[in-house]
Amino acid sequence: TLPERVKIVEVGPRDGLQNEKTVVPSEVKIHLIDMLSEAGLSVIEATSFVSPKWVPQMADQVEVMMGIHRRPGVSYPVLTPNLKGFLAAVNAGAAEVAIFGAASELFSKKNINCSVDESLQRFEVVTKAAKEAGVPVRGYVSCVLGCPYEGKVSPDKVAQVAKRLYSMGCYEISLGDTIGVGTPGGMTEMLQAVSREVPVNALAVHCHDTYGQALANILIALQMGISVVDSSVAGLGGCPYAQGASGNVATEDVVYMLHGLGIQTVRILLFPLFLPVSHFHFLPQFNGIWQTVTR
Ligand code: HMG
Ligand code: MG
Repeated sequence: TLPERVKIVEVGPRDGLQNEKTVVPSEVKIHLIDMLSEAGLSVIEATSFVSPKWVPQMADQVEVMMGIHRRPGVSYPVLTPNLKGFLAAVNAGAAEVAIFGAASELFSKKNINCSVDESLQRFEVVTKAAKEAGVPVRGYVSCVLGCPYEGKVSPDKVAQVAKRLYSMGCYEISLGDTIGVGTPGGMTEMLQAVSREVPVNALAVHCHDTYGQALANILIALQMGISVVDSSVAGLGGCPYAQGASGNVATEDVVYMLHGLGIQTVRILLFPLFLPVSHFHFLPQFNGIWQTVTR
C-alpha cells in the first residue's frame, strides 16, 4: 500500500548548485530558496558547511543562511561533514543538519577524504554535539545502488552503514543513488536489506536520474512503505566527487507522480498560531519532531 502523504526534501539549492560550473551569486541562491519555501515545500536543504577548497560553490554558506527568509514550519537543513562544519552551521543559525557517509570506500575517500569507518567516527562526534544542542540530524548513505569507482555495491554494506547512522541518532536515513544507476530490481533488493536494520518510517530515498529510472525507483520505495523523497527543482544536481553523477530527480516530476497517485504533498502548518513571536525560532525543530512523531 502507498503512503497517504509524502514529505519532499528539496535538495536543489545544495545538491543542485554544488555542481554548477559558474559561481551562482548568493542573492540568486537566497531568492531560489525563498521561492521554494513560497511554493509550499517544508524541507529545503539550503547549503553545506564543507571546505571551500573542496566545494567552492558552497563557500557562501553563511551569507545564504543569514539571507533567507525563514518561513514558519519550514526546515532548512545543511550538510556538515565534521564538528568544524557543525559548529559553523549552528553559529549561522542552522536548526537541522545532515551528515553524509557512503557505502563505498573509494567514494568516501574521494568525497570526504577518509574511510567509511573514519567517517562514522567523525559523525559520532557530530551527533553527540547535535544531541547536546538539540539539533536534529539526518544521515545520508551515498552509492547505495552503485559507485562511480567501485561499481556494484552490496546491499548488506548499505544496510550496515545505514544502521550505524541510525543507531548514532539520525532521525532519518536518506539512501542516495548518487550516480543514478539504480533500477527497480536493485532498489527492491537494497531496500529489503536496509529495512531489516532500520525502520522504514525512518528511511528516505534520494535518486539521481541518469537513465530515466528515478521515478520507477521512487515508486518501488513508496510501495515498500517509504514516505520521504528527496528531489531537486528542475532536476538540478550532481556530485562534484562522483564522475558522471547526473541530476537529481526533478521535484516537479515527483509531485506530478505523487498527485497522480492521490498522495498528498502539501505543507501543513502544525503549530498553534497563538504562540508569541519570540517562540518562532523553535518552530522548525518543533515541526520536524512533530512530523516524525505523527508519521
Ligand atoms: P580534509 O582536507 O581531509 O580536511 O577534508 P582536514 O580536516 O584535513 O582540513 C583541511 C582544511 O579544510 C583545513 O583548512 C580545515 O580547516 C578545513 P586549512 O588549514 O587547509 O586552511 N576544513 C573545513 N573548512 C570548512 N568547513 C569544514 C571544514 N573541515 C575542514 N567543515 C572535508 C575533509 C570533509 C572537510 C572535505 O573533504 C570536504 O569538505 N568535503 C565535502 C565534499 C562535498 O561537499 N561533497 C558533496 C556533498 S555529498 C553528495 O553530494 C551526496 C549526497 O547528495 C547524497 C547522494 O547523492 O548520494 C549527499
Ligand atoms: Mg545527491
